[in-house]
Amino acid sequence: MRRQGPAVSLARITTKDVVLQGQHIPCGSMLCLLICAANLDPDIFPDPGKFEIQRSNANRHLSVCRGRHTCLGQPIARAEAPVALRKLYERMPDLHIDLLTKTQAVIVPTDWRS
Ligand code: HEM
Repeated sequence: MRRQGPAVSLARITTKDVVLQGQHIPCGSMLCLLICAANLDPDIFPDPGKFEIQRSNANRHLSVCRGRHTCLGQPIARAEAPVALRKLYERMPDLHIDLLTKTQAVIVPTDWRS
């Protein structure tokens, strides 16, 4: 979810003037917020491209948003994920993650037709 989350960006319109990192953003501006880039911020996640499942702050990712628009489907997605992964590995027991590729985790089926 952090390293390659399905949601790439969010859209927002500012309801008042904002100063962000010294940049003045007037009221009514349309913003495209790249949550996929925030999830790879090295100040928050050192060595951000590394797939490290035990990161102590892994749950600080923004892939389901934060605040009042936090994804309402998050609990159902969390419940579905283990079921889907279990089924996937039942059907394709030789699947493994290629961790050699630094910026992308590639799931490699050894025989995807079987
Ligand atoms: C891995 C799966 C999912 C991801 C990554 C995801 C991601 C997100 C994100 C980033 C937002 C914030 C959008 C925004 O503020 O502009 C959002 C909102 C929302 N999501 Fe999801 N979502 C997922 C699954 C689901 C599911 C399964 C449902 C429904 C069954 C759902 C229902 C919603 C709803 C209703 C909102 C709007 C919440 C609001 O604005 O108050 N999501 N989701």
